[in-house]
Amino acid sequence: MLNVLLLLGGLAPALPAGPHWEYEGPHGQQHWPEGHPACGGRAQSPIDIATGRARLDPALPPLQPQGYDHPETPRFTLANNGHTAVLALPPSLQLQGLPGAFAAAQLHFHWGRPGHAAGAEHLLDGHRAPAEMHVVHFDAERFSDAGEAQHHAGGLAVLGVLLEVGADPHPAYDNILRHLGSIRYAGQSTSIPSFNVQNLLPQRLDRYYRYNGSLTTPPCFQSVLWTLFPEPVHISRDQLEQLQGSLYSTEEAEAEPQLLVDNFRAPQELNQRPVLVSFPREPEGYSTGEVIAIIFGAVAGCVGLFLAVHFGAKRMRSRRAQAQDVVFKASSRRSPGDSGISR
Ligand SMILES: *[C@@H]1O[C@H](CO)[C@@H](O)[C@H](O)[C@H]1NC(C)=O
Ligand SMILES: [Zn+2]
Repeated sequence: MLNVLLLLGGLAPALPAGPHWEYEGPHGQQHWPEGHPACGGRAQSPIDIATGRARLDPALPPLQPQGYDHPETPRFTLANNGHTAVLALPPSLQLQGLPGAFAAAQLHFHWGRPGHAAGAEHLLDGHRAPAEMHVVHFDAERFSDAGEAQHHAGGLAVLGVLLEVGADPHPAYDNILRHLGSIRYAGQSTSIPSFNVQNLLPQRLDRYYRYNGSLTTPPCFQSVLWTLFPEPVHISRDQLEQLQGSLYSTEEAEAEPQLLVDNFRAPQELNQRPVLVSFPREPEGYSTGEVIAIIFGAVAGCVGLFLAVHFGAKRMRSRRAQAQDVVFKASSRRSPGDSGISR
């Protein structure tokens, strides 16, 4: 979802140029390589990350957003490009902890459809979260903008944030979601107050998966260094439904409005690419809760075993004592003279 969006600047509304594409149907993802050859490449995104097979790289540093908390621009431009909602970001938002000096370009979303809680692009061990946000950056040391950077390996760095449903609305996401009503139709854009963009990210920016991949929409250029955080951000069910139900993929003038839904691509072949992980795995894939339960179970088991052994031994001792007592009594019934005979 990066092609024309990357060229989106100022208040210009963004509608995709180039060959028309959709997710399903005659222009669906199986046909993308026909008009966009890179979409048939061997380093495509998204992927299904098998977390147990990711290679630990403890040298991967925590990501450090700079200037995300106080954007210099008082307003951001939010647009519906017919494929997603895209928020243009100023290059004063810079991301450290990557090989290069990356500056933000835009962020956008992928989601499912009302009533279906599955719309993220990246999967973790086959699990598809309800939605996913992509924050797109370009290497500002080597390139002047994302449109130029997207043609070069490692030119772009995208953060993938998984969105799950929780009890409470997320205030930072509300800064975007409450304006979707102003960009219902493809080609519309609006200016919204800027806000702390870092609050859209998960807490732990040191725990992530890293691999080399592509744009997940045509033209699918293989120029993206991907970072996917396993820690999701929680939005409310109402917020998810706002994302799923507010936008049309069609322009206002079109007779039959089409809801913009299911804008996620199927997982792509890994083809021998390494997937790195910045943090060690918990033993055997148990969650912290399970580990606590196992330790508790083991401790309870040990205590039980101790008690069994302790009382068992006690009982044995007392039986032995009783037995000795019987022997003693039996022997004591004999006369002292008898005992002299047996010697
Ligand atoms: C990504 O590709 C670059 C070469 O373009 C390579 O140096 C780097 O190690 C790769 N990163 C990963 C995570 O595979
Ligand atoms: Zn995307």
